[in-house]
Amino acid sequence: MKIVIIGGTGLIGSKTVDRLRKQGHEVIAASPNTGVNTITGEGLAEALAGTDVVIDLANSPSFEDKAVMEFFETSGRNLLAAEKVAGVKHHIALSVVGTERLQESGYFRAKLAQERLIKASGIPYTIVHSTQFMEFLGGIAQSGTVGETVHLSPAYMQPIASDDVADTMADVALARPVNGTIEIAGPERSRLSDLVGRYLKAMGDARKIEPDPEARYFGARLEDGSLVTDNNPRLGRITFEEWFATSARK
Ligand SMILES: NC(=O)c1ccc[n+]([C@@H]2O[C@H](COP(=O)([O-])OP(=O)(O)OC[C@H]3O[C@@H](n4cnc5c(N)ncnc54)[C@H](OP(=O)(O)O)[C@@H]3O)[C@@H](O)[C@H]2O)c1
Repeated sequence: MKIVIIGGTGLIGSKTVDRLRKQGHEVIAASPNTGVNTITGEGLAEALAGTDVVIDLANSPSFEDKAVMEFFETSGRNLLAAEKVAGVKHHIALSVVGTERLQESGYFRAKLAQERLIKASGIPYTIVHSTQFMEFLGGIAQSGTVGETVHLSPAYMQPIASDDVADTMADVALARPVNGTIEIAGPERSRLSDLVGRYLKAMGDARKIEPDPEARYFGARLEDGSLVTDNNPRLGRITFEEWFATSARK
């Protein structure tokens, strides 16, 4: 089977490429660095010729409200139009658990716009909603940092290791489209401010956590359940302790 992975050089993309190649599939890692750009259209038609499955694992270089909306709308439109021409049979995209609840945030408005384009495209699809990647805990800390203090919501989170996410993306690529959304999460639930505090301490980072229910998460105020799901998610295997011991400093 020929599979094109848009964003195939990124964190989840590169791991998904490896898994599907090991299973013997023809896999193209498509990104600006390999000559395929979903914003300009460069290389897109050539990469998609004869493709059965497309997995969209691209991310916007900027999270600024206007830039991120332009990225996901333009990329989504160009990609889905090129897939129609190429006769792609399954479009898969990775989005975030709670996207529909986080619409105060420009990033999540852009992810919802991406999802709506997919649903309206007429191409059979599967959207995977994931919780936060463990690899993103440092980015979350950075987003709440003012001076030496990190202001974070104490809402619940259930982060998942990128290896578990990539396992799911590879499985979904080989399964039938569900024309709906499936959800994945890590094995353990914690409060965001507690877990990021544990992460920073384990990294030897001196910043102090200030739990604050009013602290915004990329622009959105969180309720306790905003970032988690009880909708029977597929659970990853890798705990925070295991991930930290093997992968955190890579
Ligand atoms: N972070 C989280 O906790 C989280 C949780 C759930 C879902 N997600 C979603 O997971 C997805 C993947 O995230 P990630 O962290 O793996 O991304 P990442 O490591 O930042 O990689 C982004 C990828 O997008 C590619 N890209 C950028 N501009 C492009 C363009 N114009 N055309 C084609 N490809 C382009 C990059 O290519 P180059 O290397 O060539 O620049 C790179 O391969 C995102 O859609 C994100 O919304 C994230």
